[in-house]
Amino acid sequence: MTNTPGRKPPPSGKPVSASQSELTDMILPNDANPLGNALGGAIMHLVDLAAAIAAHRHSGLPVVTASMDHMDFLCPIHVGDIVVLKSSVNRVFRSSMEVGVKVFREESVTNRRQHCSSAYLTFVSIDSSGRPQICPPVVPDTREEKRRYREAGTRRQQRIQHVNKRSVK
Ligand SMILES: CC(C)(COP(=O)(O)OP(=O)(O)OC[C@H]1O[C@@H](n2cnc3c(N)ncnc32)[C@H](O)[C@@H]1OP(=O)(O)O)[C@@H](O)C(=O)NCCC(=O)NCCS
Repeated sequence: MTNTPGRKPPPSGKPVSASQSELTDMILPNDANPLGNALGGAIMHLVDLAAAIAAHRHSGLPVVTASMDHMDFLCPIHVGDIVVLKSSVNRVFRSSMEVGVKVFREESVTNRRQHCSSAYLTFVSIDSSGRPQICPPVVPDTREEKRRYREAGTRRQQRIQHVNKRSVK
């Protein structure tokens, strides 16, 4: 990383609300299996996009996906359903940040929303040469934002252990 802490003071913090985003889409036959259920990969694509929007809004720099944590699909999403993805930056480390995404399906007739999936992704801010760049810290405000901030620290430790284990194989 070129822009390491100590060499340059980090930019001032931004509230979580600066990155909060909502992406809405509709599941079409091309995104589904023969039973008319959305493919997991189609949902993962939307999750990546929703997270990238939040990460970019927070950092103001180009961002890349470094990793996506484990993801469960809790309920099927059908062709014709509207999908709503809510995303925000939970915590910034140096150049990397954890983004949380929650996926809901909205029934087209009743407008009832059901929580279908959640995911945590790590994005890294980069410069035009692809080198990681320090990102402004996020300042959690509400109880929920502070909980997510705290828990993001624990998840980061687990990711580092996972990457370290992989590199000694
Ligand atoms: C992500 C990437 C920029 C990291 O570059 P790097 O030279 O390994 O940089 P560093 O080792 O200095 O790590 C930079 C940051 O990324 C984090 N990081 C790197 N690999 C990671 C991973 N697998 N999971 C989570 N975080 C990761 C580091 O923890 C570090 O965070 P910090 O600055 O907040 O402490 C680089 O690997 C890359 O460009 N990957 C391809 C990204 C891409 O194209 N994604 C689209 C899907 S293919």
